[in-house]
Amino acid sequence: MDKIVVTRKIPQPFVEQLETIAHVEMWDESLVPMPRVQFLEAIKDATACFITLSEKIDQEVIAASPNLKIVANMAVGFDNIDIDLVNKKGIIATNTPSVLTETTAELGFTLMLAVARRIVEAEKYVQNGQWQSWGPYLFAGKDLSNANVGIYGMGEIGKAFARRLKGFNTNIMYHNRSRHEDTEKALGALYVPFDTLLEQSDFIICTAPLTEDTKNKFNESAFKKMKNDAIFINIGRGAVVDEQALATALETGEIAACGLDVLREEPINMNHPLLALDNVVIVPHIGSASVITRNRMIQLCVDNIRCVLNNQPPKTPIN
Ligand code: GLV
Repeated sequence: MDKIVVTRKIPQPFVEQLETIAHVEMWDESLVPMPRVQFLEAIKDATACFITLSEKIDQEVIAASPNLKIVANMAVGFDNIDIDLVNKKGIIATNTPSVLTETTAELGFTLMLAVARRIVEAEKYVQNGQWQSWGPYLFAGKDLSNANVGIYGMGEIGKAFARRLKGFNTNIMYHNRSRHEDTEKALGALYVPFDTLLEQSDFIICTAPLTEDTKNKFNESAFKKMKNDAIFINIGRGAVVDEQALATALETGEIAACGLDVLREEPINMNHPLLALDNVVIVPHIGSASVITRNRMIQLCVDNIRCVLNNQPPKTPIN
């Protein structure tokens, strides 16, 4: 009988769908990942696994799972999966594109506005009982209107972000591996070299996935090229940013502030230098976290597993 390993607790109606296909072994925690040792044990006789970005699919996992046919990743990004390796073994990997695009763009926009208008600092000020009167420059922030906004990574999420910018009367620039003339025409987005994006943007939003090309793209030299009052937002992957260089840039006034949904190490180490800074807003990787979207992501993983175990092509293959 087929066996499906599910590495997080998911709602019962989804489990019931999986149980009509195969035996299900589910980790019973929703906020704590399945321990690696247990995952390696569970995967031994599994034909499918439903994973999150906490699980790394590498040589050790592949060697431990001779019957594996599909890895369904509950995320659009798949840097946690060694794609060359799963290809070599003929294992199908799937992700959850499209269903999370608008929700993730909304989180990016929320972070950008929260940082620009210093919402977190201002809210703490009220909570701490520091509010004494209206002040001419009390929490004076930065306007989005008429700003140059640079998008690094013009995939589905970058485009959804750009569509939102249109309503805020901004000048949109972008940098990407390839040009997207449809977006240039529809939204008036200007394709620029990476250095121009750094030098001319008032806001930079990174939506890029982690690849060899994007790793550490935002490093000391990049932050030095940015405007001193620039705001940097990252909703792509943590390792696209050299976080030590970012902390230094924020401390020394190389750039003004940042908002991060993703970090190199998740969860963050509480001694991380970025946590000591007021001009930083960090949220715990919640880009796609609306109830509807998370339900859709889970359903897509279930559908992909169902297809593959029924010898049909998956809906959203990566490879
Ligand atoms: C989240 O980061 C995802 O890749 O879906």
